[in-house]
Amino acid sequence: MVKAVYPGSFDPVTKGHLDIIERASKVFDRLIVAVLENPRKNALFSMEERVKMLEETTSSYGNVDVDYYQGLLVEYAENNSLAIIVKGLRAISDFEFEFQMALINKKLNRNVDTMFMMTDYKYSFISSSLVKEVASYGGDISELVPPQVYEIIINKIENLK
Ligand code: PNS
Repeated sequence: MVKAVYPGSFDPVTKGHLDIIERASKVFDRLIVAVLENPRKNALFSMEERVKMLEETTSSYGNVDVDYYQGLLVEYAENNSLAIIVKGLRAISDFEFEFQMALINKKLNRNVDTMFMMTDYKYSFISSSLVKEVASYGGDISELVPPQVYEIIINKIENLK
């Protein structure tokens, strides 16, 4: 059985993430979507909120589980016998940093490999940061995020005002 981990901060999950989850779930026998902290970003949603949103959007996939971890990704992968990290690439601009991350993760644990999937062109411009920015100015994010989490995101942003 080939198991993989799709890690991210998912703050919040977008249609771009979901596209990768759907396609990776067809490639691997089991896919763990793992919410991790990105120390370079301040999260809007708590870990619990991010996990819940992912659970709601992935519940129809029989071989996808959602989990979270506070620590190194390779540590999580090792603890859970996951030899493959799946990452989505949207554009060349993602490549340099993702390449660096793949190499540091390989350096930290030689048993773990990173595999990249190109995001569908329809979602290549979507990022969680842009979703939050558009929503904070009252822009329409309905086509950027899964319908199950649309209200949750709008309410969160409204409550901050
Ligand atoms: O969705 P993101 O914000 O691009 O995801 C980045 C994430 C959370 C996968 C990355 O920051 C991460 O792996 N965080 C856990 C700590 C870690 O292992 N860092 C890499 C080695 S320094």
